[in-house]
Amino acid sequence: MEPATTKPLLLSVIDGKPSERPPVWLMRQAGRYLPEYREVRARAGSFLDLCYNPDLATEVTLQPIRRFGFDAAILFSDILVIPHALGQDVTFAEGEGPRLRPVTDAEGLEALTPAFDLDRLAPVLETVKRVRAALPAETALLGFCGAPWTVASYMIAGKSTPDQAPARLLAYRDEDFFAALVERLVDASVTYLVAQLDAGVDAVQIFESFAGALPPALFDRWSLEPISRIAAGVRAARPQARILIFPRGAAQRLEVLAQSGIADVVGLDWSVDPDWAQEHVQAHVCVQGNLDPLSLVAGGSQLDAAVDRIVATFAGRPHIFNLGHGILPETPVAHVEQMLRRVRGV
Ligand code: CP3
Repeated sequence: MEPATTKPLLLSVIDGKPSERPPVWLMRQAGRYLPEYREVRARAGSFLDLCYNPDLATEVTLQPIRRFGFDAAILFSDILVIPHALGQDVTFAEGEGPRLRPVTDAEGLEALTPAFDLDRLAPVLETVKRVRAALPAETALLGFCGAPWTVASYMIAGKSTPDQAPARLLAYRDEDFFAALVERLVDASVTYLVAQLDAGVDAVQIFESFAGALPPALFDRWSLEPISRIAAGVRAARPQARILIFPRGAAQRLEVLAQSGIADVVGLDWSVDPDWAQEHVQAHVCVQGNLDPLSLVAGGSQLDAAVDRIVATFAGRPHIFNLGHGILPETPVAHVEQMLRRVRGV
């Protein structure tokens, strides 16, 4: 009989326990590539309505677990609920991505709610509780937030922008404002992640999707430093918290991140050569990644070869199999099944 306290494989691998196969989950695993997601999405109203509806958000969080038996579920929400809970207008226009009313100066920042309004995110925390109650004991539950630089880039530009130029320019031009915005985001992120842990997530991932837009000095100041303050704040409140960090495009700065000891898990995007990571990320640090999402779209024998290479390179060290960025809506479900068989060796 299974002991009542089965520790999820994903957590024991993070903690350094050897495993015969890597645990596996996919970034954006609840999403439009799944017909059952599209069905729920169609009756949810807006995307934010879906994020704030515990019934439906619980359902879509669980969908990929039911279908594929991934080793982790990730809370269904978005990184932009933090700006929303700070009082910024946030909408998701169909097919256009996020739209926010830009905040570009101290006055705009003052106009936001003085304190982060965690009550606004009560439905998300309710979703965490329901998902945890419904998940099998062997499945880890991940919470998340966006890193301050990535979230600030949306708050400043009001939308996705090439190379995050508006935010990067402001980081040079108005350091005081930029620092004040980042400070707000650090505080809000600590509060939000601690609340997610208290509601039942096992670990939290910090998404720094736009690390690649920052030159090294700016990366250290506006990415690494705020992330390290979030990690320290979370660990001060909840010492057992496990923290995964995904700095997309960080390239050689991954080594600095790994050495800093901030991350229990270092996420590798698809541009990172597994051999390079094997050499430059210390052997005790767990790595996560890093299959190219387009390789998964394409399928066939190249997919098997790409999976094999990642699994073989990271065998013998803590490794969580994942994509190198979010799964694309056009991904065939059959290719996800093929990838899982390969990772699991069945
Ligand atoms: O399954 C999961 O991974 C959990 C849910 C999740 C979503 N967004 C749901 C979502 C997570 C972890 C995110 C993180 C997120 N959101 C990031 C960081 C990860 C990354 O991809 O780099 C970013 C940058 C965002 C901001 C965001 N949200 C954008 C740019 C968009 C529009 C682009 C798109 O893919 O549609 C979203 C919308 C969004 N967030 C969708 C989903 C499933 C699609 C909206 C829909 O279904 O209508």
